[in-house]
Amino acid sequence: MGITILGIESSCDDTGAAVIRDGILLSNVLASQKVHEEYGGVVPELASRAHQQNIVPVVDSAIRRAGIDKSDITAIAFTRGPGLLGSLLVGTSFAKGLSLGLRVPIVDVNHLHGHVLSHFVRENESDEVPGYPFLCLLVSGGNSQIILVRNYDDMEILGQTIDDAAGEAFDKCAKVMGLPYPGGPHIDRLAAEGDPKRFKFAKPHIPGLDYSFSGLKTSFLYTLRDAVKDNPDFISRNMADLAASLQATIIDILIDKLDKAVKQTGVKTVAIGGGVSANSGVRNAVADYCCRHRLKAFIPKRSFTTDNAAMVAIAGYYKFLSKEFCPYDAAPFARVSL
Ligand code: KG4
Repeated sequence: MGITILGIESSCDDTGAAVIRDGILLSNVLASQKVHEEYGGVVPELASRAHQQNIVPVVDSAIRRAGIDKSDITAIAFTRGPGLLGSLLVGTSFAKGLSLGLRVPIVDVNHLHGHVLSHFVRENESDEVPGYPFLCLLVSGGNSQIILVRNYDDMEILGQTIDDAAGEAFDKCAKVMGLPYPGGPHIDRLAAEGDPKRFKFAKPHIPGLDYSFSGLKTSFLYTLRDAVKDNPDFISRNMADLAASLQATIIDILIDKLDKAVKQTGVKTVAIGGGVSANSGVRNAVADYCCRHRLKAFIPKRSFTTDNAAMVAIAGYYKFLSKEFCPYDAAPFARVSL
């Protein structure tokens, strides 16, 4: 019998459970919480309550879909942080309880490591995984980082946002346009129909590899505010062009620093991860950039871009192989770096 890891993810507003055997994904279950939509953002208290309701059926379903029995589980991996503390507590406590019940060890996983290592989740033996070292552009609602990945436990942040994350730029600008939360996927959909060159928004001039998105957000806001003064229908008439121009600007900012990082490190493999890596424009731009520069690109399946438990299970699998277990008094962390 191989090494079977149950992964549990509960860092934000998705309750996830996945089963991986010897690095191959057997099941991956996710319950997204719709309760936050009407508030225009994640409400932490509601998120922890929903996790509490979801966790048993989600874990149960992951075990059943994997076609295994609870007694086949070798270890339980869980997200310890960063994330919302109340949400993390649900997953952490559940993992501890189940591990005591099943008499198997627990392995704690850094959520950000999980996103980076999602490229190592294989659905078939033949699936290709990145070779070390590689650069990972991690872009989500909370992070925009360029990470040099030397090994599963050796990652260095070369650059990161000094203010808003790329996902926040999508979401906040989408909100100004009257789109529902989270706005990123709506911008993606609208951008496909629009002219990316129609509007020009401010781009940052930050030295080094750090990102900044708050200037773009302000410039977007002012453009809309000035335009609606003369033309109240401006936003509704220009939805697609606004979305396409915003998306193109975010992509330019992301690729600009990625290019610097590639030149600085000489690394030949580039991966992307995090919620924003689901964006069609971002995916095409990174693939195209890598093709032009003869780099190997790893673009994740969309189901592995947002929070998921498969990435937690694979990160836990590597830690398990190195016998890096977690003590039972380990508390979750709201904030941790890599
Ligand atoms: O990694 P993730 O699920 O969790 C957080 O870090 O919060 O990322 C969520 C972010 C949100 O900002 C959402 O708008 C963005 O990812 N996102 C997208 C797309 N899908 C999700 N942004 C642009 N285009 C998309 N298709």
